[in-house]
Amino acid sequence: MSVIDRCALLRVMPALFLANALFACSDNEAKSMRLSDAEARIFINQKSCNACHEVDETRIGPAFRDVATRYEDDAETEVDRLAEKIIAGGAGSWGYVPMISYPDITSEEARAISLWILELNKPKS
Ligand code: HEC
Repeated sequence: MSVIDRCALLRVMPALFLANALFACSDNEAKSMRLSDAEARIFINQKSCNACHEVDETRIGPAFRDVATRYEDDAETEVDRLAEKIIAGGAGSWGYVPMISYPDITSEEARAISLWILELNKPKS
């Protein structure tokens, strides 16, 4: 994802990210939008993902860490599929209970949160 995409994403995220956005947008190395843990948790709260998901516990939906483990060998292709599924909703990967759709989440936001989920098991640098 280009730096411009990252800037576009940060513009649609709450003003709280503004300081970070200004910093990030001058960072030519920001090839792919990566959310910090704090940003990701705010997003998950705001969008009520946490009504059904926890990082470490299976609830109505799978634990995000289990999602990371299942797709760890295919993270590069899965990131886009998961982003589309977050927006469109759907069932069948973990059971019969469907995930609700989020038509108001942008593809950039969906991709960023998918990437954060997929990298949960990676050691933090
Ligand atoms: C109403 C409950 C509910 C909410 C709210 C919810 N999910 Fe889910 N989610 C589920 C269920 C159920 C599944 C399993 C779907 C399946 O079996 O394919 C799931 C699956 C997923 C998966 C894995 C999909 C796959 O194909 O493996 C991801 C990633 C995910 N959710 C992210 C999110 C994010 C991000 C949000 C908030 C923007 C969110 N979910 C909100 C219920 C929910």
